[in-house]
Amino acid sequence: MDSTKVSNERLQKVLPDAIAALHQVIEKHRVTEKEWSAVLAFLTDVGRHDEFVLLSDVTKTSVLVDAISHEGETNATPSDVEGPLYRENPPWREKPVKIYDEYEGIENGDVLFVHGRVTSADGTPVSDAVLDIWQTGPDGGYDVWDERQPDYNFRGMFGVDDEDGSYEFQTMVPKPYTVPTDGPVGRLLEATGQHPWRPAHIHFKVEAEGHEPLITQVFFPEDPYPDNDTIGAVKQALVRPLSKHENEGELTRCGLDAPFYTCEFDITLKPAMSAAQA
Ligand code: BEZ
Ligand code: FE
Repeated sequence: MDSTKVSNERLQKVLPDAIAALHQVIEKHRVTEKEWSAVLAFLTDVGRHDEFVLLSDVTKTSVLVDAISHEGETNATPSDVEGPLYRENPPWREKPVKIYDEYEGIENGDVLFVHGRVTSADGTPVSDAVLDIWQTGPDGGYDVWDERQPDYNFRGMFGVDDEDGSYEFQTMVPKPYTVPTDGPVGRLLEATGQHPWRPAHIHFKVEAEGHEPLITQVFFPEDPYPDNDTIGAVKQALVRPLSKHENEGELTRCGLDAPFYTCEFDITLKPAMSAAQA
């Protein structure tokens, strides 16, 4: 089924309730013609700026839908929202995987190696898993916002080890950043006094034969925005510590001349419905 389409049956069930809820709010607050016109103009502008995903995110609607869609899932890595910054067809990164190139501004950042294993719910390695990563750099945010960065910087796809499902990639420790504020959603945040910050995080998409695709994010402790992410997407089960490495021998072995960090993130995939029933 085309995942962007909703069946008529579902539409006939959900839409009347959605409209009734909207009418209730309009009645409760005695919304005027002028105010309703402003709402319609705002939504038109959101569409023009392609900001509906962003609107869904900052109103924490995406987080609610994610929670409902994955309710009761145990024995699998928790999912999280995708957000609007994913780009299709990122570059394939060969081993040893490094997902960025240098650019002016990167020098104040810290190198980070993220590693872990991808396993199925029963603990067996998923040797054909493909990871797709995207994140901000330590300076300037996402590649699409920062002209200094090469296209697709801090993005990449790669496979896991075909024996034990392990993976490792080199990146930089991401920093907290603000969601786009120069469009209609930014104006809404400003008008309602909601701050635009997200805690530092790394996005993961993981796909493998016979398993449900996983979209998630990894967060770090000691972040200034863990409890008030503007999209409310932090899950404690997705917070992973960063370990600092300063030992001369380790630095030499990694070909680095400054301390670096490591982070372990094991991933458990949920068997696909049809595989689980087979
Ligand atoms: C992100 O994490 O990339 C993101 C999520 C929601 C709004 C903007 C950005
Ligand atoms: Fe992000």
